[in-house]
Amino acid sequence: MNTNQIQIFDTTLRDGEQVPGCKLDTKQKLVIARQLELLGVDVIEAGFPISSPGDFQSVREIGSTVTEPIVCALSRAVFKDIEVAADSLKTAKRPRIHTGIGTSDSHIQHKLRTTPEKIIERAVAAVKHAKSFVEDVEFYAEDAGRTGNEFLARVIQAVVDAGATVLNIPDTTGYCLPDEYQAKIAFLRDNVNGIHKCTISTHCHNDLGLATANSIAGAMGGARQIECTINGIGERAGNTALEEVVMIMRQHEHLGLYTNINSKLLLETSHLVSESMGMVVQPNKAIVGDNAFAHSSGIHQDGVIKRRDTYEIIDPAEVGVDESRIVLTARSGRAALAYRFKNLGHNVTKVQLDNLYQEFLQVADRKKEVEDADLEEMISASAA
Ligand code: KIV
Ligand code: ZN
Repeated sequence: MNTNQIQIFDTTLRDGEQVPGCKLDTKQKLVIARQLELLGVDVIEAGFPISSPGDFQSVREIGSTVTEPIVCALSRAVFKDIEVAADSLKTAKRPRIHTGIGTSDSHIQHKLRTTPEKIIERAVAAVKHAKSFVEDVEFYAEDAGRTGNEFLARVIQAVVDAGATVLNIPDTTGYCLPDEYQAKIAFLRDNVNGIHKCTISTHCHNDLGLATANSIAGAMGGARQIECTINGIGERAGNTALEEVVMIMRQHEHLGLYTNINSKLLLETSHLVSESMGMVVQPNKAIVGDNAFAHSSGIHQDGVIKRRDTYEIIDPAEVGVDESRIVLTARSGRAALAYRFKNLGHNVTKVQLDNLYQEFLQVADRKKEVEDADLEEMISASAA
């Protein structure tokens, strides 16, 4: 792997599926897993096998279906969890166990009710146990975002020495600011012996709307794997959106970071996940929202009609969107109206356009959006 390639770890089927009401059955998960393979993700987190027989079965079937991506199963730092995860991965061509434990004061004192020293012992034992089943073991330091860097480095040093291959530094509560998160990753990179043999991973939640920014900042700090979900779905305010981090890296070439993702499949994958989970994508969602390439104000429409990149930084075809949309509303101008008439096969003169525009404004004030049928009606009425 080139040192600037970012591995895309998709957790739509694990963290994404934790969204209330979004439960999928094994068949639906298999369809999504195949699509994720086509999309080019490097790792599919297929589930949390100890959590239910259904999840176990899904990991098993995904493991025997996909061939290219690594298939990963989640576990707590509990031997039984790890054994069940290992069993679920038996058929996977490239298996990975993802195990870990909380490392912040809050988790140590209030959730796990133990001591920092015991956390290190449990983390090491979990990694060693997982290593007895598979070579590829990812360790997560839950709530790393709120864990002091010195203690976090001690935990990470211990699991690196125990044989972890990937080090996940989750901002579990979506608390960090981008510069803080970048500094945290850089601190680990610079202070843990032997860390260069491992891959550092980001796993950011969106409680403050910073998941995407934090993931990119983490990559700038030295992480080479980003954990994310399609449409950014996940616990509470969600996870980092896959489509956003991928397109940021493509748009900002100077970062020198790239992925294996076939971006032309982003929209189709977004629709598949949204429909399977019954979870609507907000219209203004970056990259895959219905309005991501729609222009409705006169000033913007005039620019886009003259040259698309005046108001669009991404060519819609690059993410699988057919074309930009010129939406007619009461804020639209003559240029947009003439453009839409032309698309319908009506080349109107300037004088006709002036008259039709007055008519259009009246319709637009009554309706939210003026449709093709309204335009045809206006043309017919003007010819009568
Ligand atoms: O947010 C988180 O910390 C997690 C871990 C289980 C990786 O999802
Ligand atoms: Zn998470």
